[in-house]
Amino acid sequence: MSEPAAVRFFHVWDTYAKVVAANYMFHREIGEAVRAALRARFGDRPFSVLDLGCGDAATFAPLLQGFALKSYTGADLSEAALELARRNLSGLACPLALERIDLMSAIEASAPVDAIYISFALHHLPTNGKEAFFKVAAKKLSPGGILLLADVVREEGESLPAYHAAYCDWLRTSMVTLDASEQDAICEHLVNNDLPEPGNVLRAQAKAAGLRLLPVVAPQKWHRLMSFVSD
Ligand SMILES: C[S@@+](CC[C@H](N)C(=O)[O-])C[C@H]1O[C@@H](n2cnc3c(N)ncnc32)[C@H](O)[C@@H]1O
Repeated sequence: MSEPAAVRFFHVWDTYAKVVAANYMFHREIGEAVRAALRARFGDRPFSVLDLGCGDAATFAPLLQGFALKSYTGADLSEAALELARRNLSGLACPLALERIDLMSAIEASAPVDAIYISFALHHLPTNGKEAFFKVAAKKLSPGGILLLADVVREEGESLPAYHAAYCDWLRTSMVTLDASEQDAICEHLVNNDLPEPGNVLRAQAKAAGLRLLPVVAPQKWHRLMSFVSD
């Protein structure tokens, strides 16, 4: 299976790992909110998880510690990332499945699942792909389930080129522990691959699919956790 550019970039895990370790994409605040949402939704009850675009699962694996998991299924197109995920998830005491598969194919093929987690991956799909994603996600959520969507989101009224330019400016002054070539590589990747929607578009798509939005967590204007339920 050939790999799209959105996936090839993430063979450079060391740069992405630096971004995550420095919390430049607010994984820490978002992760705390994910744990709180899972606790509020499931308490001590066992639940199954589908992690779409799981990458190396380095930030999600620790968040799942202490929960009663029925199963964890991760899907990603990068074999290199899945290899790392296998190691990072080895401490979970539940059946694990990791598959090299496109995220839409993974969710379409999935049995009903209690928690769908998709972190910084949905923005790779075009607008109609995101619309299709919400429709399938709504069908695949078990009763009482939750969709946790962490992602970059454009501000309302901010065009995609304006977003790309502003994000690159921001990262050059914020992601200061990266050298210039690493900053350039991220900018090139995001200008060529990242298609974040304005928040109102995502909200409308999810609502049309029958999903209800819970309070949004936005540690920074472009980085958000949007959680949805189907009841
Ligand atoms: C920014 S990384 C996010 C990794 C992890 N979820 C996190 O939050 O740290 C995006 C991941 O999505 C994967 N990806 C991109 N497009 C995909 C697709 N269509 N299907 C499956 N995985 C995809 C990439 O390979 C990469 O691992």
